[in-house]
Amino acid sequence: VDADGSQPATLTARAGSHAFVPGTQTPTLGYELDYLGPTLRVRRGRSAQIDLVNRTDDQITAHWHGAHVPGNMDGGPQLAFDPGQSWSARFDVHHPAATLWYHSHVHGKTGPQVYHGLAGFLLVEDPAAPDGLPSDYGLNDLPLVVQDRSFDRAGRLVYDTSGMTLMGGVLGDTICVNGAVQPVADVPRGLVRLRLLNGSNARFYDFAFADGRRFHQVASDGGLLPAPVARSHIALAPAERAEIVVDFSADTAPVRLVSADIAQGGMMGGGMMGGNARPGGAIEIMTFAPGASPATGPATLPASLPAPPMDFGAPVRTRDFRLDMHAGSMMGAMFNRLIGSSGSIMGINGNSYDMGRIDAELRAGETELWRISAPMMIHPFHVHGTSFQVVSRGGQRVDPATEGLKDVVVVDGRGAEILVRVDQKADAATPFMLHCHILEHEDAGMMAQFTIA
Ligand code: C2O
Ligand code: CU
Ligand code: CU
Repeated sequence: VDADGSQPATLTARAGSHAFVPGTQTPTLGYELDYLGPTLRVRRGRSAQIDLVNRTDDQITAHWHGAHVPGNMDGGPQLAFDPGQSWSARFDVHHPAATLWYHSHVHGKTGPQVYHGLAGFLLVEDPAAPDGLPSDYGLNDLPLVVQDRSFDRAGRLVYDTSGMTLMGGVLGDTICVNGAVQPVADVPRGLVRLRLLNGSNARFYDFAFADGRRFHQVASDGGLLPAPVARSHIALAPAERAEIVVDFSADTAPVRLVSADIAQGGMMGGGMMGGNARPGGAIEIMTFAPGASPATGPATLPASLPAPPMDFGAPVRTRDFRLDMHAGSMMGAMFNRLIGSSGSIMGINGNSYDMGRIDAELRAGETELWRISAPMMIHPFHVHGTSFQVVSRGGQRVDPATEGLKDVVVVDGRGAEILVRVDQKADAATPFMLHCHILEHEDAGMMAQFTIA
């Protein structure tokens, strides 16, 4: 759906019913659709216009994850609105070409709302900077949102935050891509661009093809890389994106996309018990069937890409953010369901999220060095309103040419350092968020907010 044409795009959030597996139905939420929302397309240099209508029975928002928009258009928790109401988002698209997404962001409810379907793709195109990559949407340019879900015997979605799930986040035992379990995509026998989004609440993936073939990464969260990077696998934490180009030109048999089954949340195998798990630790994601449609698009990859500049300069100050989980009170909370009443179980720098408290005040255009630490487990750390440069991660320097601009960085016990500069304004009424993108951690208070003057 074009969201920057002469007419605003309308997104009506509503309850629906969806068949993840043919023959079953489950209550879901969606923007316009029964589950998830349409892919919105905006163009750099134009103005996005999206009218959001709430026909669900709870507060919702739509946050433009990764987009460089002012705080009052960001769709954060302060912009949540009631059933029967609407909200108009209008913003100029300054963003370079990128695969972004949108999702609801109501404090304390982001996990269940996204789980049930309030999410979609937001693609930015830059007509002034052609990339030479496959770009026939739905043919050789496919958006793929990967999500793990659990179902009961009747095929209904189960969102269960009891027991260990508070610690590790909600993990499903069945992988869905674009709302279907283990789908098969017909692709042309040529180069195909896959826009991968880890839209899961808590699960980490390390994607690869079952036959071990190499592919090229061409973009990360914030846009294109300076040149395609050859890889045999790619790890994506919750909310991370990567665009990859795969060569199906010599394929006559189906090609399977899989993921390593990553231990997380204190459980081996990340709780993957049924559905897609295979012996040997690989999880089935989906299958590509090359050759059903004629080859289209470019036959070779360009040697270089019109990547956005990384001109952060020297930081003017340093800030530290510590992602806290209090193990003692976690154990208590798991059994006593104290989340919400005890406040300090998950937080940042010792504080659980408070919608009324501003945690940091930044100035537009100033580069800062942020040092993020995570003493207890791995967290995907996300910042609103901008794209940042990762300086180090996991105790290693990061090469900006292969990492690109990011809005999520994985933080483990060795910490991460990022260069952050925000050019958009955000006041105390509608500040920007920084948070863990394990949605159950975010909902439990591992989030802080900042203004940009
Ligand atoms: Cu993807 Cu604050 O969110
Ligand atoms: Cu965001
Ligand atoms: Cu976390």
